[in-house]
Amino acid sequence: VSQENQSILSASEWVTKLYHHLLRYTKDGKEGYQYLKDRGITDETIDIFQMGFAPNVKDFTAEFLQKKGFHQQILVKAGLLSLNEDNSITDRFRGRVVFPIRNHLGKTIAFGGRTISDQEPKYLNSPESDLFQKGKILYNFDLSKRYIRKQSEAVLFEGYMDVITAYQAGVKNAVATLGTSLTEAQARLLRRYVDTVIICYDADEAGTEAAYKAAVLLQKAGSHVKIANMQDDRDPDDFIREFGAEAFQDQVIKSSLPFTSFYMKYLKKDYNLSLEGDRIQYIEKLLEYLATIESPVEREYYLKEIGDSYNVSMDSLKQEILTNREKMG
Ligand code: UTP
Ligand code: MN
Ligand code: MN
Ligand code: MN
Ligand code: MN
Repeated sequence: VSQENQSILSASEWVTKLYHHLLRYTKDGKEGYQYLKDRGITDETIDIFQMGFAPNVKDFTAEFLQKKGFHQQILVKAGLLSLNEDNSITDRFRGRVVFPIRNHLGKTIAFGGRTISDQEPKYLNSPESDLFQKGKILYNFDLSKRYIRKQSEAVLFEGYMDVITAYQAGVKNAVATLGTSLTEAQARLLRRYVDTVIICYDADEAGTEAAYKAAVLLQKAGSHVKIANMQDDRDPDDFIREFGAEAFQDQVIKSSLPFTSFYMKYLKKDYNLSLEGDRIQYIEKLLEYLATIESPVEREYYLKEIGDSYNVSMDSLKQEILTNREKMG
């Protein structure tokens, strides 16, 4: 690690402690603390994730770190301070609840901040640097690793709050991407630790689309994929707050669907199934996918479902699968 990065790591460590202390024990952090309480987060969880609060003061962090002997330039580079157009320098995170982002060794390398008012953007992250590359990190991987190994299963979420609330609800094998799509590097990282990844994204359109893309990447990396049973446009964090930990474990995580079931539903969006032509195209597209499944039992299971739903004979479905498989070689 270069001297500069060493210095950034050290500043990040101080800032983590500062914000966390403010949130937990001082008046300056009370708003942040209250915000997390309103979202159902316990003190213990706040401590485990070292969540903090950055006061809405323009140079609170700057002053604190300069007293510790850090150079402004490095702090700007670390993304803790922002250089403005008029060359003035202000704290980057102001009036935000702050989530330290740890690398796989547990060292804080960046922060995510959520506004507690209606500031835009809702979430603000540290800028990327050679220490912090979003596409290579999974949020909470350091803490979840041992649970992931033990269960040979990981649950992948969209956001920090989803991971944190899930963890609090007993789903500790939880990781998240950092406000971007899953990358190949992240898929490979997961593959090294588990056989199966459960994708638990928001149940809205964006989340469903992202879940499909993530699933394809994970399968390419060699993982089995299941899709959590999130419904009604909720996200995992909303669900847990509304229905509780047990419902989340039983009805969402343990009721995950195999990717194929998810895909059969997902694919419908491209077709108007009340039209015969579309119906046939939809079934043919599905059969292309089913042909890639190695297990005959699994193939037969889905073929039967299609046969029943669309009143097609098993013979013709099997015939088409055979043709598809021959084409695949
Ligand atoms: P969402 O937009 O679904 O967050 O983004 P949310 O669930 O509404 O947020 P809350 O519950 O109100 O707090 C999902 C995740 O993507 C990341 C954050 O980690 C967020 O939790 N994100 C989102 C960013 O990093 N930057 C953004 O601008 C938006
Ligand atoms: Mn969303
Ligand atoms: Mn969400
Ligand atoms: Mn939202
Ligand atoms: Mn949410």
